[in-house]
Amino acid sequence: MSILYNESKKTITLHTAKTTYQLKIGNLNYVNHLYYGATIHDEDLSYLIRRYDRGFSGNPYDSLKERTFSLDAQPQEFTTQQQGDFRINSIEVQNADGSFSFDGRYVSHKIYSGAFTLNGLPTAFANEKDTVDTLEVVLEDAVTKVQVTLLYSVFEEADIIMRAVRVRNGGEGTIALKRIMSLNMDYMNGGNLDMLSLPGRYGQERQVERQPLTHHVHKIRSGRGISSHQQNPFVALVDKKANEDYGACYGFALMYSGSFLTEVELDQYDQVRLVMGINDRLFSFHVAPGEEFDTPAVLMTYTHKGLTGMSHIYHDFFRNNLNRSKFVREVQRPILINTWEAAFFNFDDVKLVEIAKAAKGMGVEMIVMDDGWFGKRDDDNSGLGDWFVNEKKIKCGLTELVRQINDLGMKFGIWFEPEMVSEDSDLFRTHPDWVMEIPGRHAVRSRNQLVLDVSRKEVQDHLIASVNRILDSANIYYVKWDLNRAITDLWSNSLPAECQGEVSHRYVLGLYRVMEGIIKAHPDIMFEGCAGGGGRFDPAMLTFFVQYWSSDNTKPLDNLKLHYGSSFLYPVCTMGAHVSEASPMVPLETKAAIAMCGTFGYELDATKLKKKEVKACSKMSSLYHKFYDLNFFGDYYRLTSPFEPVNLVAWESVSKDKSEALVTVVTVNLTMNGPQEYIYCKGLAPDKLYKVDDGSNKVIASGMALMHAGIPIPREVPEFTAFLYHLKAVK
Ligand code: DGJ
Repeated sequence: MSILYNESKKTITLHTAKTTYQLKIGNLNYVNHLYYGATIHDEDLSYLIRRYDRGFSGNPYDSLKERTFSLDAQPQEFTTQQQGDFRINSIEVQNADGSFSFDGRYVSHKIYSGAFTLNGLPTAFANEKDTVDTLEVVLEDAVTKVQVTLLYSVFEEADIIMRAVRVRNGGEGTIALKRIMSLNMDYMNGGNLDMLSLPGRYGQERQVERQPLTHHVHKIRSGRGISSHQQNPFVALVDKKANEDYGACYGFALMYSGSFLTEVELDQYDQVRLVMGINDRLFSFHVAPGEEFDTPAVLMTYTHKGLTGMSHIYHDFFRNNLNRSKFVREVQRPILINTWEAAFFNFDDVKLVEIAKAAKGMGVEMIVMDDGWFGKRDDDNSGLGDWFVNEKKIKCGLTELVRQINDLGMKFGIWFEPEMVSEDSDLFRTHPDWVMEIPGRHAVRSRNQLVLDVSRKEVQDHLIASVNRILDSANIYYVKWDLNRAITDLWSNSLPAECQGEVSHRYVLGLYRVMEGIIKAHPDIMFEGCAGGGGRFDPAMLTFFVQYWSSDNTKPLDNLKLHYGSSFLYPVCTMGAHVSEASPMVPLETKAAIAMCGTFGYELDATKLKKKEVKACSKMSSLYHKFYDLNFFGDYYRLTSPFEPVNLVAWESVSKDKSEALVTVVTVNLTMNGPQEYIYCKGLAPDKLYKVDDGSNKVIASGMALMHAGIPIPREVPEFTAFLYHLKAVK
């Protein structure tokens, strides 16, 4: 058991392989947080909490005039509301009598093996060989009988603790949750912490920012109804001295795809509180007597092995515990060519077959028919919602088109954007009340489209049936599931006025139900997520999609930053990346080397390539296969940062047994007559000898030499040259 209850000390200790987490049923049955960090054995750490009379920090009434006991200065597992703790809080509930108050005290706990699951929300799962135990701690407000259950699943070998919160209304009247966070994390002394997050924008998702915590509330949030291009539901709190290789790092990744909120407060006493969960803006969720409300889960980790150590924990976990699709590991993903940047809306069946024929010579194994094949869809003004084949474009019909593609020895993929509708569509004309639109107002248009009210069961059922009908009509191997606007106009015609604050979250729950009904119903189809690029790239989506389109920006140099930033949380095998015609000054080989730091594919008109280019692509495609296991399943190291003024951007994948590695180096700046530069490998076995193959030269050097003395990178090369160094252990 990785969870231990000490009856006499009233402590509960959670152990993963390399971390310990402790909480205590403390004074007046408030549950204190005592510790999260490197492994400590099962001692009672409550000596860490000191009490002082803190001015203006109130005392619970039953502390009997004990002025040194204030919740404002106590580390807690979850917060109260209006009990004298003035920091950010994890719950705001309006009780049936109209009061805003919650005073949760310990009433019970239980420990069991296996991971918790949530109603309608995705969670991580335990594999056969994983040791996973769960702790549930129940807090109750004695007056309202509102119960909050804190859920902790300890994934021992993975060093991950999955957390969430379940609210149960045990009272007699309906309550309204105005804020309910998935996790509350208190640090008694957090003045030494920096905050690292992944902000961005459309076309430039998941860039990296690191900033010191100041005495404020720092907020990372999306209010766009999707996890968004602008922020990612991930944050790390890291020791000021932590770097890639050393130092304490705490990671928090929220499994949620809608509007989210993370707040981090450094308070007056240098205590830090982090809360993370559903965004409380435009949120008010009613829970009737006897009903429950589940928050989304957070995947939390700690390591003292720096940022790389933290990324490795998440990469392994995402590859092992999020998605059961055979395309995660057992079946190698094919190299695809996507028609979007080749033809946009302008294609027909003949053109698709031509592209497929031409792409074959490039080593491409699958063609993906993007936006434009359905309804009346010649531009972005019409057609969304009408999921039937446009036979003016696909004249031979879908089944026949797929057959022709299959006859070429290629697989076939297709694009959908299920959640959206065009005003000029049969669906909108038939069901105008299915869109999100506030009565008496016009809905905001974005990319000329409106949002379907996916919170409604009949809309969900319609989407499941109409997408599945197409998927079952032909030999479809792959689906790209897109979304091209943010969610606005929160309103559902199926909910009463007082429940409109539930729409945003109900939309997300509805979406997960639709995805269950389509994706989980088709285990032989490979699904890639997309939201105008990486606008909904989050851990919850990865429980459905094996990969996610990183960005609509296919410029290779921008992708260096995008991949670097994404890699803090997401493994290479989840990041969709294509070679395209963007940035003609960058050689094709370099574009391919960069796309290999992702799932690799093409997004160009294959019929227009010169022979020489087809040959180069074919060579790069075989390298993708050659290095597939290394790239997809190896340990990934960021060797230099594209956010710093470097001349070389480099990264490396090392096989788990350290017998092989691939080092990729891209020359981003050529200085005339400059110094010789070296790239220093990481993660190799120091005493192993490696053959270093760069395609033309072969050197033999020890892991020690390659890590400490480095690899000299040739200087006199054309701009934006990429080097691939394949390291193979010879002894
Ligand atoms: C946005 C996606 O990111 C693109 O790749 C493409 O699929 C378009 N949508 C199609 O509308």
